[in-house]
Amino acid sequence: MSKEILVTGGAGFIGSHTCVALCEFGYTPVIIDNLSNSRESMIAGIEKIIGREVKFYPIDCCHLDPLDLIFQKHRFDGIIHFAAFKSVAESVANPEKYIDNNMGSLQNILTLMEKYRVPNLVFSSSCTVYGEPEVNPVSENTPWKSAASPYGYTKQLGEKYIGERHIQDPLGHVILRYFNPIGAHHSGLIGELPLGMPNNLVPVMIKKISQQQPLQVFGNDYPTPDGSCIRDYIHVMDLAEAHVKALQWLEKNPNQSEIFNLGQGKGNSVLEVIQQFESINGIRVAFEISPRREGDITQIFADPTKAKELLGWQTTRTTAEALKDAWHFNLQQS
Ligand code: UD1
Repeated sequence: MSKEILVTGGAGFIGSHTCVALCEFGYTPVIIDNLSNSRESMIAGIEKIIGREVKFYPIDCCHLDPLDLIFQKHRFDGIIHFAAFKSVAESVANPEKYIDNNMGSLQNILTLMEKYRVPNLVFSSSCTVYGEPEVNPVSENTPWKSAASPYGYTKQLGEKYIGERHIQDPLGHVILRYFNPIGAHHSGLIGELPLGMPNNLVPVMIKKISQQQPLQVFGNDYPTPDGSCIRDYIHVMDLAEAHVKALQWLEKNPNQSEIFNLGQGKGNSVLEVIQQFESINGIRVAFEISPRREGDITQIFADPTKAKELLGWQTTRTTAEALKDAWHFNLQQS
């Protein structure tokens, strides 16, 4: 029988693509999502891709009682916990909201994992835990800097909290530190569709193209070859597949814990991303240089060696492919 995996935040950007990857590898995802920053149309998109219905509960992980009922109903073989708020700017304006939500939902998940003896947690963390690194690429041992935002703090705290509960009751977990996820499923049926005004580079760029307004490039005076910031952009389907590899690793290594960086292992500047978007999609991206955005770091990219060695995972899709898929998804929406 197919193993049931609870996917919290499964209607979101990375969550929806991970559900597709889980199905491709023979797992059955069970989705919980409160739709606070996602749409039910993503569930329909997942179902179209996999060719069958998927179990979806529109509930909030911060509410323990309805969550408990779902754990009573299913016998999960693992949990992938995405459900969290992720806007850096909003977290600065309203830190309590971020601590309450991101820590509250994690606490409930861990409590129910322990209560129902569910093994194998995959936790969605971020390269934001490293802050501005002194040396690139960053490995999992690169020391943390103090968090640049309450959002970043919830990721640092979440990692530490999982580690401490693991010492008391080792049910097995993998922490995945994502670099910059972009792109969409090649079908164009699921992709990145934040509610309200997007903040991240690629969805902002796409929105600006459709509004026929220039993209604001935040700073061209950084100490990088072209003056714009450098990030490690990773195709969301590569990222999704890493979650499956992480679950498989946990199945082979019960009660163990590990942390992995997930990136391509190379950086692209903002101006390079614009240029690649233009050339792969045959579209001009109007942009203008504006002041640096508060909280941005100059550059970060991953050393993904550990994921390659232990998980047998590495990226197989390029930044250009991700930009092509993101644009294709956008065209399918209109
Ligand atoms: C941000 C978060 C990070 C989080 C990630 C989720 C910060 C400091 N970090 O990463 O913690 O895990 O999102 O995906 O916010 N840019 C522009 N114009 C725009 C938008 C972005 O020039 O309109 C530039 C930024 O200055 C940056 C790059 O594009 O250099 C990438 O920005 P973004 O996509 O927001 O990701 P990060 O800031 O790297």
